[in-house]
Amino acid sequence: MPAKNPMPEVATSSSDDSARQVLRCPDCLGPVLGSTALECSSCATSYAIEAGIPVLIGRASQLNTSEVETQDHVSDQYNGVRYKRSTSVKYHEDTMEQLLELAPPRGMVLDDGCGTGAFLEFVRRRRTQVERYVGIDVSRGMLSHAQRRLKAAGGDPLLVQADACRLPFAENTFDVVYARGMLHHLPDPARGMQEIRRVLKPGGVAVVLDPNETLLSRLPRYLARRTDHFDDDHKSFRASELERLVKDALTLGETRFYGYVAYPLLGFPDLIDFDRLGISRLAGGLMRLDRIFGVLPGIRRLGWGVMMSARK
Ligand SMILES: C[S@@+](CC[C@H](N)C(=O)[O-])C[C@H]1O[C@@H](n2cnc3c(N)ncnc32)[C@H](O)[C@@H]1O
Ligand SMILES: [Zn+2]
Repeated sequence: MPAKNPMPEVATSSSDDSARQVLRCPDCLGPVLGSTALECSSCATSYAIEAGIPVLIGRASQLNTSEVETQDHVSDQYNGVRYKRSTSVKYHEDTMEQLLELAPPRGMVLDDGCGTGAFLEFVRRRRTQVERYVGIDVSRGMLSHAQRRLKAAGGDPLLVQADACRLPFAENTFDVVYARGMLHHLPDPARGMQEIRRVLKPGGVAVVLDPNETLLSRLPRYLARRTDHFDDDHKSFRASELERLVKDALTLGETRFYGYVAYPLLGFPDLIDFDRLGISRLAGGLMRLDRIFGVLPGIRRLGWGVMMSARK
């Protein structure tokens, strides 16, 4: 896969090498060894390390090229607008806070589909009981932004180019897995959930967040899908469908709905920019209103998004 944002070559250090001990061959789960490239000691497949990021996508992965291209394409908008504009950053950090309320980070933490690294950066800033942060994403463009963002923030999470349907980790590796807005991009979300289950330690917790399809969200989502932000794999689950996927893999914990008025007005300036109307001045109030809607019986299920925690 060609690099969209080529980065200067990053020398590997011994700390990179020790972080990479957690990595496995995505095809056979054998250990992968090496410092300038990785070779599977079981099936002898070799995997490149590009600009410091191991590319652990095996031959068995069935990736949708157009989804990967779409994500490479939107990564600049994510990084340059969605996670830079102060109002939308504030909005997204409020939803990130809710993910942490569902599962505080601890031990080994995986951000599955980490995008431009905004959530990893947020988690790093907030808590300290973490042994190691790991982020995977299939998009080179997303990972290049994540690498820059996290270096600038002084962190050293392990970033890996990988397929969420074939995670390059041994079973029972992680204490907490977050999948924020990722599952609905997969051609086979059930497989993505089974992979989360596999890499979680017994007693480990996963938090997934995805769009929630309701009668109200259907039309605007249909119109948004016609933009170049979305590939055909992009799905909208009803909350009950997402709960089914989660329950087939793990023991469901709490389900929370989020995103009512503030979500479309503040969250996606790369798609719909309401800032011109002076909406940002109302951000605090709109976000408080959204938190209230999120607990009102009847109304809460109309949220644009849903998040749930689950335990292995
Ligand atoms: C809506 S974005 C969310 C990104 C990030 N989690 C966030 O909250 O900003 C979806 C992410 O899933 C990634 N993705 C899509 N298909 C994937 C796959 N098969 N394996 C890993 N990541 C994938 C995309 O590259 C993209 O970064
Ligand atoms: Zn192998």
